[in-house]
Amino acid sequence: MSGGMYLKRSARIWYLYFAIILLVFMCFLVNFGVWCPSENEQKLENLLSRYREQIKEKDQKYTEVKDSLRKSEKKVEDLILYLEVRGKNNRVFDKSMPVIYAITPTYYRGVQKAELTRLSQTFLHLPNFHWIVIEDSSSKTQLVADFLSQCGLSYTHLNILTPKEVKLKPDDPNWLKPRGVLQRNVGLSWLRKNLDPEVQPGVVYFADDDNTYDLKIFEQMRKTKVVSVWPVGLVGGLRFERPIVKNGKVTGWFTYWKPDRPFALDMAGFAVNLQLFFTYPEVEFSNYVKRGYQESTVLSGMMVTLDDLEPLADNCTKVLVWHTRTEAPKLTSEDKMKRKFGHGSDPNVEV
Ligand code: UGA
Ligand code: MN
Repeated sequence: MSGGMYLKRSARIWYLYFAIILLVFMCFLVNFGVWCPSENEQKLENLLSRYREQIKEKDQKYTEVKDSLRKSEKKVEDLILYLEVRGKNNRVFDKSMPVIYAITPTYYRGVQKAELTRLSQTFLHLPNFHWIVIEDSSSKTQLVADFLSQCGLSYTHLNILTPKEVKLKPDDPNWLKPRGVLQRNVGLSWLRKNLDPEVQPGVVYFADDDNTYDLKIFEQMRKTKVVSVWPVGLVGGLRFERPIVKNGKVTGWFTYWKPDRPFALDMAGFAVNLQLFFTYPEVEFSNYVKRGYQESTVLSGMMVTLDDLEPLADNCTKVLVWHTRTEAPKLTSEDKMKRKFGHGSDPNVEV
């Protein structure tokens, strides 16, 4: 009996030992994070979500930096384009927008530089613009070459002398002979030789050097599909001439002088899609057509009909181009001064 009691007691003590050892062991496991898996997972999850958060923040910053980099890259590209187009005679244009090619005949006289300055400073406002300047002279003059090289526009400088037999003499009335004919033709040859309307669409405008142009007409003519037309102020002995428009279509011409011409409009009153000069590669102006028929010769030659015409300037109700003619300056005091003082104004100063 007592032996049994002893055994029971010692077994209890063993149980106690065992329980204590188990407890210590569990405490050890808990303490070193080996046991209690759910708490551990929680820790790991927290850690992971903190990392995820940090990665998200970094991603966001990366996108911001990438965006601002892309923006500044675009700015640099624009700047390069601007410098190339404006700074040099280099034809780099925005492909998504037709280029306006203005063809300007010009000849030497007292007001030439003033006219070209006025014109260029209008054109400087235009994007995607190329100026083709053709001098009526046997060679390119220093004055025009210097002027163009500093004017800030993309340009081409050409020349051709109008032969004596078709050239206006200083005392002739200005309507006696056509002006700028061969010069415009040289401009057209240059276009046909150097451009490709499939690669870069364009619109051609014959911009004489003495007219006055509102910028609005250029943005409108840029969309010309075949031929666009609009009124011209101070021309043909009237306050303005214009195409007659009915229901958005040109039906005839409001002009006093020769209204029966197929296209009774001034050179300043229309623009042509570049493609048309490629479809009709032979068409050009002529010194031997009747007075007032230059425009009709070219447009009829390219099979243009009234139906093709696109009226601009609010259905031809606004004057955005003026056929201004600059008065020739009377430099009578130069000679008087020479006689009185032995010299006139300093010839080294370019005017
Ligand atoms: C009008 C029209 O507006 C012109 O487009 C057209 O060429 C001319 O009539 C014509 O019947 O031939 P108008 O003002 O009388 O024009 O002519 P200008 O402005 O004196 O000359 C037209 C263009 O040709 C100008 O850009 C002018 O600089 C140039 N030009 C003029 C020459 O290249 N050489 C000349 O001897 C005279
Ligand atoms: Mn003129």
